[in-house]
Amino acid sequence: MKFTIAKLPGDGIGPEVVAQAVKVLEAVGTKFGHEFDFQFGITGAHAIDEVGEPYPEATHEICMNSDAVLFGAIGDPKYDNDPKAKVRPEQGLLAMRKKLGLYANIRPINTFPSLIHKSPLRPDLVEGADFVVIRELTGGIYFGEPRGRSENGEKAYDTCVYSKEEVTRITKLGFEYARLRNKRMTVVDKANVLATSRLWRETVQGMVADYPDVEVDYMFVDNAAMQIIQWPKKFDVMLTENMFGDILSDEASVITGSLGLLPSASVGIHTSVFEPIHGSYPQAAGKDIANPIGTVLSAALMLELGLKLPAEAKAVRDAVDASLVADAVTEDIATDKSKAFKTSQVGDWLAEYILK
Ligand code: IPM
Ligand code: MN
Repeated sequence: MKFTIAKLPGDGIGPEVVAQAVKVLEAVGTKFGHEFDFQFGITGAHAIDEVGEPYPEATHEICMNSDAVLFGAIGDPKYDNDPKAKVRPEQGLLAMRKKLGLYANIRPINTFPSLIHKSPLRPDLVEGADFVVIRELTGGIYFGEPRGRSENGEKAYDTCVYSKEEVTRITKLGFEYARLRNKRMTVVDKANVLATSRLWRETVQGMVADYPDVEVDYMFVDNAAMQIIQWPKKFDVMLTENMFGDILSDEASVITGSLGLLPSASVGIHTSVFEPIHGSYPQAAGKDIANPIGTVLSAALMLELGLKLPAEAKAVRDAVDASLVADAVTEDIATDKSKAFKTSQVGDWLAEYILK
């Protein structure tokens, strides 16, 4: 089959890691007889430099006309240290999420047997941990209005807003995910303090009767932050709002041993986006040392969820597992650092493995 894939490498290590996922997808195309037509689009700081905005209309058109979007990362330190910058690269990512209607971000957290020893947590705690964070992605404090500064500049404010409709659509997705897994869903909120959290609870409570086979529990976010580290194995599906999901999924990545390993899928109304959860990691940009596995596994998610090609997705995951066992990996997870692979070598290794 033929697929059109929007390729948005973005900033920092984005281009390097996306290039490896493209190699892997091309190998999958050759092996399984598919053709991937990659359409390049500019985003982030790159796009600001070129056209003055981080998610230009031309890039949006490419995404809208594609079967899936493969995304790298967005962000540039020159903006991080300039709080007065009028346009910021991250606005591109938020605009893309909003314009594509990507209301759900799915972040699977699982361990790799060959990497258990890389986790800062005790092996007996992490072995077999396997859960998925479902993060609401187009609402909450990331988008709520009003936001800004008081006239004299002495105060700043953000607003957290959720509608029942927004909570309902993502909760449905959470329940459906739980049904495909171990039928347990933990709703993470701060209902002891926040009105939006109470709306979340009330909305979920109103839906549990439609999913009697799914066991639901509720947890305050501070407690969840602690339990993720203390008992990561107890979770199955974790459903939460935008900012809590942002924070908890970074925290959860520690379980696997490296943030560089984790993929994500953002799904919703228009074309789905597949991207690693790590950021642009500017310190490593251009050095050919970044771990491409998060992006390669995002390509696997794209094959599975976006293009409905489960056998092809499995081929990619098998290749990744084999590379971990063979220690054909970048320096962040290599057992023997002196023999660590470069980013591009990992991509070559994986592509070759798939073609074998
Ligand atoms: C993520 C990132 C983004 C977010 C940033 C870059 C805006 O941290 O995808 O998790 O906060 O959503
Ligand atoms: Mn984040």
